[in-house]
Amino acid sequence: MIEISNASKVFTARDGHPVHALSDIDLSIDDDEFVSLVGPSGCGKSTLLRLVAGLAPSTSGSIEVDAIPVSEPRRDTAMVFQAPTLLPWASIEDNVLFPLKVMNVLDGTSRRRAHELLELVGLAGFERKYPRELSGGMQQRAAICRALIHDPRIMLMDEPFGALDALTREEMSLELLRIWTDRPRTILFVTHSIPEAVLLSDRVVVMSPRPGRIADILEVALPRPRSFAMEGDPAFQATAQKIRSLIFEHHG
Ligand SMILES: Nc1ncnc2c1ncn2[C@@H]1O[C@H](COP(=O)(O)OP(=O)(O)OP(=O)(O)O)[C@@H](O)[C@H]1O
Ligand SMILES: [Mg+2]
Repeated sequence: MIEISNASKVFTARDGHPVHALSDIDLSIDDDEFVSLVGPSGCGKSTLLRLVAGLAPSTSGSIEVDAIPVSEPRRDTAMVFQAPTLLPWASIEDNVLFPLKVMNVLDGTSRRRAHELLELVGLAGFERKYPRELSGGMQQRAAICRALIHDPRIMLMDEPFGALDALTREEMSLELLRIWTDRPRTILFVTHSIPEAVLLSDRVVVMSPRPGRIADILEVALPRPRSFAMEGDPAFQATAQKIRSLIFEHHG
């Protein structure tokens, strides 16, 4: 369980002024829950993910996973960043295998697993290529494989499909849904796409900017399994509309 209690984050801008990125965030996320974060640019979504990832400390309040304060990146947690962050000097396969190398758990089955994941995201045959030889969207898909390679219990995904074309984006959302259904895990997912948030999530957290706060939390009461065919359903549209109006209501 992820427990964010009264968490705030204040950055110091280059000119010395404080930037209140997050204020009084309270959020509990159950094991195996799929929670999306939506809200306008600059409302602190990436910052919140970085706090949960243990990549940055909160200024006040606490972030705990299974009642243990998060003070550094955890082995059971993977992050997919907003922009792909592959190692330029390593092949796609070595990039995907990198977390296993760092944890010193690379074994005979690792390469096959990397290949399976790359195949899943449409990158079979690109194992020996280097990041610069792939498009931004392809690099992002490889970064998703890297996040999945050690089968993390918690995945923090910061607009993972932002750089993909609409069709690939839908395919990847459905693939993520499939992966999550096959092996349930806790996912905290940032997106600008409201239909994507509705399709994937158990709950959608709507944030408001300056300072970033939780404006509202919405349960998505649609049955699973879900598909984009449901987008036309009145219940789907009503949920999407509700999120849209919450974002609009709380916008800056
Ligand atoms: N390292 C930093 N130093 C100073 N200010 C920062 C830093 N990181 C983020 N901020 C500020 O904190 C606020 C929240 O930024 P954040 O990147 O979390 O927003 P976001 O919701 O992810 O936006 P987007 O949707 O554009 O990705 C912004 O005002 C940003 O300028
Ligand atoms: Mg962001």
